[in-house]
Amino acid sequence: MKIDVLLGLQWGDEGKGKLVDVLTPEYDVIARFQGGPNAGHTLEFNNIKHITHNIPSGVFREGSINMIGNGVVLDPVIFKKEIDEIKAIGVDLGPRLMISRKAHLIMPTHRILDAASEAAKGISKIGSTLKGISPTYMDKTGRNGLRVGDIESPDFRKKYDFLTKKHLRILKQYDFKFDLKEYEQGWMEGIDAIHSFRLVNGEYIINRYLQEGKSVLAEGAQGTMLDIDFGSYPYVTSSNTICAGACTGLGLAPQKIGRVIGVVKAYSTRVGSGPFPTEQENETGKALRDFGSEYGATTGRPRRCGWLDLPVLKYSIMLNGVTELTITKSDVLTHFDTLKVCTAYKINGELSDELPYDIHAPVEPVYKEMPSWKKDLTGITKKEDLPSELLDYLTFIEKEVGVPITFVSVGPDREQIIKM
Ligand code: GDP
Ligand code: IMO
Ligand code: MG
Repeated sequence: MKIDVLLGLQWGDEGKGKLVDVLTPEYDVIARFQGGPNAGHTLEFNNIKHITHNIPSGVFREGSINMIGNGVVLDPVIFKKEIDEIKAIGVDLGPRLMISRKAHLIMPTHRILDAASEAAKGISKIGSTLKGISPTYMDKTGRNGLRVGDIESPDFRKKYDFLTKKHLRILKQYDFKFDLKEYEQGWMEGIDAIHSFRLVNGEYIINRYLQEGKSVLAEGAQGTMLDIDFGSYPYVTSSNTICAGACTGLGLAPQKIGRVIGVVKAYSTRVGSGPFPTEQENETGKALRDFGSEYGATTGRPRRCGWLDLPVLKYSIMLNGVTELTITKSDVLTHFDTLKVCTAYKINGELSDELPYDIHAPVEPVYKEMPSWKKDLTGITKKEDLPSELLDYLTFIEKEVGVPITFVSVGPDREQIIKM
């Protein structure tokens, strides 16, 4: 068997969590491969809204097996809070969740370092979620990191203290106040919670599953435009959010990748700083935010909103080898008379549908206007009932990017999904 990969093709928050929940019944195993609690993946069913941060979004389906892969950075405090909340709605994660020993731990001082570094950057801040993502990945690539497997070692406390002291020395460079003790208590309780789950050599487990013919879906976090190598650097996250990240983040050879499902919002959003060519800092952007409830699932920050950007989509499809698309939030565009889709950029007077090296440079989007459908989509369950204007919008996207759309999402609930 091959592993299928589901990931975001824009700046995150495309609706990945919902789609993973929709698709989980088709899979035996759901595995997160990168990122950490900077992610906020929203699922809605039976009038319950749930947001996953560290934990794969397959956990709410009975019979599913979920894995936190080695490419993930795990915050014990947020992890414990998540499992407690899930327990409160009657789901026992014990038999459903395993954690790779090679996943790295976000330490209290990583979070403090993230906050101190962002504060010191002033107006040029990245707009980080302040979850300690960048300092944790820095320690990973700097070969200093603390891993989940270390909690099984008798030297764990010694390793923790050693790295904490190092961080405290770095923190002296910053004029930044913090209270480490208060956060440490909860952190150690979180470590106990991690201990109570199955800690595994994930790379062996996942390859064995595929050999046994089990179906596996890899769940991406963030989006391609936040990828550390290919996103709008430096306004990115610190991991490879692209499909290749599933190989390194789970321990899979490239030829094991099967379907690559790219999730795309019918318009664009971004939270945090950085370039955003189709951003609408006007009434249109405000309307997209209001109708789409565009507020961060992790931080609550208002998301920046704009039109769909096809050069971004083509770039993401190329980098990920996307085989099919899911379009989410098409119901939000019902509220507009006319829609715009960016088909190319004008850069120094020249038209191009490629992203320039420096996306910060003046990039003027060229738009195609299309009529909206002006029809409530949220109760539609069959392709045949979709308005012709929406079908035209979808066909236009498919033709431009050369990849079929297999699902259209028409609302946040798991039932609000149309197979094309
Ligand atoms: P993720 O990070 O990619 O999982 O996405 P988020 O959960 O951060 O943001 C997506 C938001 O849109 C959440 O509030 C979802 O409940 C919501 N959502 C997902 N699909 C749809 C849809 O088709 N229509 C509407 N109106 N909301 C949706
Ligand atoms: P999901 O998985 C949207 C953004 C932050 C910031 C930049 C770096 O829910 O789609 P970090 O905390 O990683 O150092 O922040 O990346 N960011 C996200 N934006 N969705 C996410 O995850 C994000 N995770 C990080 O806002 O601009
Ligand atoms: Mg999100």
